[in-house]
Amino acid sequence: MCGIIGIASNKSVSTNIINSLKKLEYRGYDSAGLATIYNNEINEKKCSGRVEELEKILFKNPTDGNLGIGHVRWATHGVPNIINAHPHSSDVVSVVHNGIIENSNELKKELESKGLNFKSQTDTEVITILITEALKKMTPLNAVFQTLQKLKGSFALGIIFKSHRDIIIGARRGSPLAVGYSKEENYLGSDSYALKSMTNKISYLDDGDLCILSKDKVEFYDFEQKKINKKVYILSDDKNTAEKGDYKNFMAKEIFEQPTTIKTCVNEYVDNLKKDINIYNFPIEPKKINKIVLVGCGTAYHSCIVAKYWFEEITSLDVEIDIASEFRYRKVKFNINNLYIFVSQSGETADTAAALELCKKNNVKTCSIVNSVESTIARNSDWVLPIHAGPEIGVASTKAFLGQLVVLYILSLKLGKTRNDINQTTYSTSITNLEKLPDSLKECLKTENRIQVMAKEFLDAKGSMFLGRGLSFPIALEGALKLKELSYLHAEGYPAGEMKHGPLALIEEGLPVIVIAPKDKYFEKTISNMQEVIARGGKILFITDHKKELINENIRFGIRVPTIDKLLTPILLTIPIQLLAYHVALLKNCDIDKPRNLAKSVTVE
Ligand code: M6R
Repeated sequence: MCGIIGIASNKSVSTNIINSLKKLEYRGYDSAGLATIYNNEINEKKCSGRVEELEKILFKNPTDGNLGIGHVRWATHGVPNIINAHPHSSDVVSVVHNGIIENSNELKKELESKGLNFKSQTDTEVITILITEALKKMTPLNAVFQTLQKLKGSFALGIIFKSHRDIIIGARRGSPLAVGYSKEENYLGSDSYALKSMTNKISYLDDGDLCILSKDKVEFYDFEQKKINKKVYILSDDKNTAEKGDYKNFMAKEIFEQPTTIKTCVNEYVDNLKKDINIYNFPIEPKKINKIVLVGCGTAYHSCIVAKYWFEEITSLDVEIDIASEFRYRKVKFNINNLYIFVSQSGETADTAAALELCKKNNVKTCSIVNSVESTIARNSDWVLPIHAGPEIGVASTKAFLGQLVVLYILSLKLGKTRNDINQTTYSTSITNLEKLPDSLKECLKTENRIQVMAKEFLDAKGSMFLGRGLSFPIALEGALKLKELSYLHAEGYPAGEMKHGPLALIEEGLPVIVIAPKDKYFEKTISNMQEVIARGGKILFITDHKKELINENIRFGIRVPTIDKLLTPILLTIPIQLLAYHVALLKNCDIDKPRNLAKSVTVE
């Protein structure tokens, strides 16, 4: 993960580096650092923890310089302390790195045997030492090229040199890297989001590319050291801002803006006059699609599970789902008639991007469902369906999950209709129901006061369990993921029918068990599974859309969401589980937007 920034300018760069690092903190917040060239020296400032700390250090002891690099870290090699924080500098060079150098141990041993010393436990420091050694004999460009040839693994690098104080070298293999252009200033950054406040003109490095930038010039090279040209993209204006306004944190804002983001998303895809869906240019003619393969990580993978139920219900298609980190190493039997769909909020998740790359190598058609349309995954896929959720800043994914679900549902309807799996009446009714979603979501948000009370039930809990069947099973998984991610409380999500095959052993007096049971074809079965939990002392917190009163001395708490088309109910059931995780975390004083050990964008495998 980690975020990197580089600025070459004709004015002091440290303030803009700090501002960009704040934007990049979603990639990691274990430590932060920057280095500038000033008075012919490399000036390095680092801290463990957040960019705020680095800012305080700079306030007390400002760093000047018209060229510099910065870094926010998500620790992989070595504990998150100040020594392991980036940049890693020698007397002559300073390096920031995102990625993992897989052969760093071998390289380190080799360099140590030559009498060279290491200060940190990081894999990155080998790059600093290799370039330092190479610089004794060659130019910065050749020193970097030579070093890159020795590295195995993934990297995005930003490098500055004491002897060449007007250039930054950037290089990419595996981890994303962008270049931004402005008048008398050029930039290097992990993504366009970090650069957006400074420029809307961006180029993206491809794997193997290297760039040299100074304040008024940028040159690109490919892995064979041949000069190349890069396409310049003009970034779109984001209507949705990344400010939290009056909300306590971004997660609260993002939960509460879901009626609006879903309305925008539905409006982008639905023609409500014609009762049709504006999705065209399928990469494979819909009637010829053999199978849909859905791939994602974390919350995005949960969207894939929900979608599997929808595609199977609405279309005649065969559907397979996979976690990206598994898919990329399996012996997948690729088929040119399958459509491979990649779901990702950031569009930068390393495993998902690698799984997509594998599909490309096997010449099959790919589609991505992303929030960030300028991302690596979006740029590399044949077909992009954006979710239009606006920037999601909280590490816990909320509005992006609902956006992914809505786009996947819309896609299943369009495929069902085009393949003649559903008739016009079902298609039009489904579209009308979809249009009711934003209002129903607003109703769901009114459950917050009750959920706040319910959250107290978790304060002394040792763990918890989320149960559901059918379309509620992935929502149970998502509920458990949200709770553990935000409140650090152990939580398991399970299909309710599986309990007796092992997990029932975990139930003991007072264990909170969240039963998600809408009035669908599974309702009675889920209630039976719930009775088995009650008989063993589990404390039931019940979430349903059932109209009947939820009075039952065995149910500690009941939450009701509005009734809507059964297929859309999982979207509504998501709101209470998001609010629950949020309020438990708030009661436990956890850092809501930046949970420990995590990062928003997982750009290492
Ligand atoms: O950006 P992506 O959607 O590809 O991210 C995938 C997961 O890392 C992400 O959904 C993660 O599980 C969330 N933090 C969960 O809230």
